[in-house]
Amino acid sequence: MKTLHTAEADAQSGEAVAEPEAGAALSSAHSGGLIIRQREPRNLEFPFDRLDSYLTPVESFYIRSHFPAPTLQADSYRLSVEGAVKNSFAITYDELKRLPATTIVATLECAGNSRVFLVPQKAGAQWELGAVGTAEWTGVPLATLLRKAGLSAGACDVVLEGADRGHPAEPPTPPELISYSRSVPLEKALDDVLIAYAMNGVDLPPDHGHPVRAIVPGHYGMASVKWLTHVRVLEEQFQGYWQTSDYGYWDEVDGIPVRRPLSDIKLKSEIARPSTLEVLPSGQLYKVYGAAWGGGEDIVTVEVTTDGGLTWAPATFLDPIRPHAWRRWSYDWKTPDHPGRRILMSRAKDAAGGSQPDKFDERYFSYVVNFTLPIEVVVQ
Ligand code: MTE
Repeated sequence: MKTLHTAEADAQSGEAVAEPEAGAALSSAHSGGLIIRQREPRNLEFPFDRLDSYLTPVESFYIRSHFPAPTLQADSYRLSVEGAVKNSFAITYDELKRLPATTIVATLECAGNSRVFLVPQKAGAQWELGAVGTAEWTGVPLATLLRKAGLSAGACDVVLEGADRGHPAEPPTPPELISYSRSVPLEKALDDVLIAYAMNGVDLPPDHGHPVRAIVPGHYGMASVKWLTHVRVLEEQFQGYWQTSDYGYWDEVDGIPVRRPLSDIKLKSEIARPSTLEVLPSGQLYKVYGAAWGGGEDIVTVEVTTDGGLTWAPATFLDPIRPHAWRRWSYDWKTPDHPGRRILMSRAKDAAGGSQPDKFDERYFSYVVNFTLPIEVVVQ
């Protein structure tokens, strides 16, 4: 089995740029004990074996940024709503905060979460289990702003653009600096997309998009654009870098490959405890603990195997069903009386009969790693 990376190994790897100042800022800003995947731009992972609350504390929430975080001030902040609309406008931070607000709970998962489980290894940050978190997000429905602008008849796609700019790490690299921009179909934009300014009741921290970001419930994290400065309505499908080159996959229609943007989070569960290669005492009761989530349907079952997939038994949910939010679960396992290695896996099922797959779907290349992930433990 492939050895999972440790925080120390990653911090020492060539990927991390060990500038003393950057390191100092990192440790004081992130007392949450996040695993460093990359220092600059900041890519930090929640150590998933520490999962013990429904809402992920702000300081423990994973950070996934492609470019250095821009510094935006709330008092000079403007969000423009433009494009295929009747009345484009710009709104200040204070004006946004005076509009009727909504609070939702949503789980964000980076599309590359669990990439370290892919064999052979795929390029990109080697996220283990913790590029995922759940928070309470407060802000203004995107629909409120779109209605204020008035949509033109042909409007079909809504681009969300952030203030950060740079050269993407993954080829094909565009020659010019590009911004981080993603689009959501108009139907989704008018449904439940939130223009958020608070996370778990506090102002958004700089690394999570201060002062304003989008939250696209049920879509992989790449859709929830941070440091949001522009909402641009289009009359055709957006073809930006983060929509087509990156965060896309090859579909097939009548034998012809078609590039599509990643969107909804696929059904998944993860084991938080035990962690990989944890040593457990034999003949004891051990509480296996984890969480399950997905982009659409309600999660109704989680099963656990402790014998590498020969037999499965139901786990008990600790959280209620809530759209677009994870449900933690636990399972009481009496560890074997005899020492040896065991492979544990969990498998989520949804209300529509969907089941977490047991294999990686290669169409996604290095994203959507939602198969039943093996956690090997040592019983002694
Ligand atoms: N928005 C901007 N402007 N720039 C980014 O690099 N990363 C995206 C998304 N929004 C990104 C962004 C990705 S890939 C993810 S998974 C989420 O932000 C992560 O959000 P978080 O850092 O608040 O956890």
